[in-house]
Amino acid sequence: MTAKNRYKSLELETHDVVELEGLEVGVTSSCNFKCDYCCAYNRDDGQCMDAQEVIRIISELPRLKRVRLSGGEVTLKFQDCLEIVTYCAAHGIDTQLNTNASLLTEERIHALRNAGLSNIHISFNYTDAEAYSTYYRVHPRMYERLERNIRLCTEAGLETVLETLLFEGTQSNMLAISEKVYDLGVRIHEIQNSIVMPHSKWSKIASKESLIRSVNELIKHKKDDTTLYFTCMDRFADQLGLHEQPGVYFSNCVDGTKQLHLHGNGDILICELCHPVVIGNIYQGTSLNEIYAKQPPALADFLEKRPCPAYDALFAGE
Ligand SMILES: C[S@@+](CC[C@H](N)C(=O)[O-])C[C@H]1O[C@@H](n2cnc3c(N)ncnc32)[C@H](O)[C@@H]1O
Ligand code: SF4
Ligand code: SF4
Repeated sequence: MTAKNRYKSLELETHDVVELEGLEVGVTSSCNFKCDYCCAYNRDDGQCMDAQEVIRIISELPRLKRVRLSGGEVTLKFQDCLEIVTYCAAHGIDTQLNTNASLLTEERIHALRNAGLSNIHISFNYTDAEAYSTYYRVHPRMYERLERNIRLCTEAGLETVLETLLFEGTQSNMLAISEKVYDLGVRIHEIQNSIVMPHSKWSKIASKESLIRSVNELIKHKKDDTTLYFTCMDRFADQLGLHEQPGVYFSNCVDGTKQLHLHGNGDILICELCHPVVIGNIYQGTSLNEIYAKQPPALADFLEKRPCPAYDALFAGE
């Protein structure tokens, strides 16, 4: 039996109608890490949104199915996260909390579970303390903390997704990472295709050849009780001969069509990861509830062209 994740169901449906069903909320743009690949919008600009404000906004969106708390490192505002999760759980809205796990504790993990968090999503790119500390420029003991917190999440019965960024730093180690994910007790592994970051000029994305090799190897060695989600590959998976099978999903992109990003200053972005274009601001007259009915020009243009930087990066010049 593979574990299917409720939060992800939005990405497994096909979408004809554009509608705001998912909201990513940058509770804070601050972060205690400084990853080279980081896609956070205006990281560390000090913009935050407290729980009462997020809840007010969410309560005005009757069609919302899911909320993702992501920044920045949103656990820097732990109490706000907890209150938002509690509200969403009470109103049938699925939640995901994206974190580097460095600031979690047993008490916090239990509090998130008890608040009804649908799933916790933890970045996991290294299989040993030395490589982790070298890449992230943190003390090697931080890796022990990461491992301990992952185990605490699974032991607490909190649905746990480990996300690995497939990029130059991980592409030759994906099988070992996958085994480590399993050893840590996690049965849901998301492989996020890396996206070029124009704002920082970061471009150490996986090549087409290593992407094909890594995905095929991961599928070949997948254990029966594990689910693999490959993200930002749906536009070209078939073209590369990569296909879904039981427990293997090439998630459908929902960014800009079903999901938008809300920054702490009220800016609404099409997608924080690949299309950080501001299409309005909730404090300057934009209604999130009506945004697809009254499409601002930048959103209409996006919906017409549906650009995908992941596709462009791999197929440029072909
Ligand atoms: C911006 S982080 C915020 C949450 C948390 N601080 C963390 O790092 O997990 C959210 C996710 O974006 C992903 N991400 C960051 N930079 C990326 C890039 N250049 N391409 C693809 N995904 C990226 C990370 O792997 C992470 O899982
Ligand atoms: S931990 Fe997350 S938000 Fe922080 S720098 Fe790394 S990717 Fe960006
Ligand atoms: S449009 Fe952006 S978020 Fe969607 S699959 Fe392409 S790169 Fe990923």
